[in-house]
Amino acid sequence: MDATAIILAAGEGTRMKSNHAKVAHRILGKPMISWVVDAALAAGCSRIVVVVGSHADEVRDIIDATYPGNDAITCVEQAERLGTGHAVRVALEATGISAGPVVVLNGDLPLIQPETISGFAATVSTGEVAGAVLSMLPPDPFGYGRIITDENGSLLAIVEQKDCTPEQADIQESNVGCYAFDGAQLAAHIADITCDNAQGEYYLPDMLEILRRAGQAVTSFCCDDYREGLGVNSRAQLAELTAIARDRINERLMAEGVTFIDPAQAWIGPDATIGRDTVIWPQTHMIGTCVIGQDCVVGPNTRLTNVRCGNGCTLDETVAIDAVLENDVNCGPRAYLRPGTHMLDRSKAGTHVEIKKSTIGEGSKVPHLSYIGDTTMGAGVNIGAGSITCNYDGVNKHATTIGDDTFIGSDTMMVAPVNIGAHAVTGAGGTITKDVPDGALAIERTEQRIIAGYTERKNARR
Ligand code: UD1
Ligand code: CA
Repeated sequence: MDATAIILAAGEGTRMKSNHAKVAHRILGKPMISWVVDAALAAGCSRIVVVVGSHADEVRDIIDATYPGNDAITCVEQAERLGTGHAVRVALEATGISAGPVVVLNGDLPLIQPETISGFAATVSTGEVAGAVLSMLPPDPFGYGRIITDENGSLLAIVEQKDCTPEQADIQESNVGCYAFDGAQLAAHIADITCDNAQGEYYLPDMLEILRRAGQAVTSFCCDDYREGLGVNSRAQLAELTAIARDRINERLMAEGVTFIDPAQAWIGPDATIGRDTVIWPQTHMIGTCVIGQDCVVGPNTRLTNVRCGNGCTLDETVAIDAVLENDVNCGPRAYLRPGTHMLDRSKAGTHVEIKKSTIGEGSKVPHLSYIGDTTMGAGVNIGAGSITCNYDGVNKHATTIGDDTFIGSDTMMVAPVNIGAHAVTGAGGTITKDVPDGALAIERTEQRIIAGYTERKNARR
């Protein structure tokens, strides 16, 4: 579908009572605006124009960070927010669009589906219809523009809540905030929208009535599932849509073979994929691009952000960010894997273990109470409880290497930069500041003294 999408994201979002742009608020970890842009892209829109205004820089930054170097997406600034009709006018003037199919989407419409957009936008591409609006039948239409039709069901106009007569307010069919126009007709008539209404704003929905009065064909399409047409104006609606998105994603994953102990208690973002026979325990969050393999057990109490994980892994009470886990990796309970962690096959990050920017070799184990940072670890290494890489001297970070099959005794401090060879051993409690050759034992410990009869003498003094 060779359409341009104009996405409206300049509004103040007053009802959110927020210091941020409304469309910057996240649903399952993803900014609302990105849900809409993704839906437009997936629908096949070849060009996207995002209208920014209130908190423009914040919205621009999200677009730049989410779609780096994507020339198909541009932002246009609506300096004065005079309404949705004005926003579209600004977009047309800035881009010079005056032909071809144009889809307009509210930026606060995160659950709209790509197939819905493409199916509906196809109606204008034949040239027979100049304007179409997507409608829905929400259980409570309060706040939405109402679809006014004649006795034959043909679209006459859209009337905003604040402009409704009591009879019009009883109409259930409502405007989703998704429109398709013939670009030439839209450009020809956009200046005809007036602000003669209860809110003194230029209403985009008025465009349908304007086109109809100009002798053009207009129509409305009712979507099958009103839940994809709901908008976000308040925190309550943000929570409501989050729950709908969560259910939709979890239902899809269950259909694909993923087990959820309680699907109401797992918040999986839209860009996660999970393999079959993986079990998701309650209080699991997956943010960003997570790819989880088959036969894994994730949760309870686990938060994963941009994590790639192979098959057969266990992530119990684990927080992992920008980390890669190969197969049969075991984490937690209470592991914290920070960016740059790479766990190779059958490795382990146990309880109260923090790992940053390190490779944990095949079958290597960091089972208890450790911090491993800036470390390259070979295969078959065992890190004794309480051992730590002292990677930071207060100014710079330094590297540690540990060779294959080395045994690090409990409570070893590895003061980086330091290289510990293969098949080596460090004695418990050692502070290792010098390199350890392959196969050597490094022991750093003051001699133990015995003071006999101490307790008896102490008690006698009392
Ligand atoms: C709008 C529709 C209403 C529809 C509802 C669906 C209008 C006049 N009304 O109402 O018929 O049922 O959406 O959710 O369009 N925006 C701008 N510039 C502006 C004003 C708004 O870019 O000057 C953007 C907002 O950021 C938002 C979108 O347009 O993403 C819709 O604006 P909003 O104020 O939320 O409109 P509603 O009152 O919800
Ligand atoms: Ca809205």
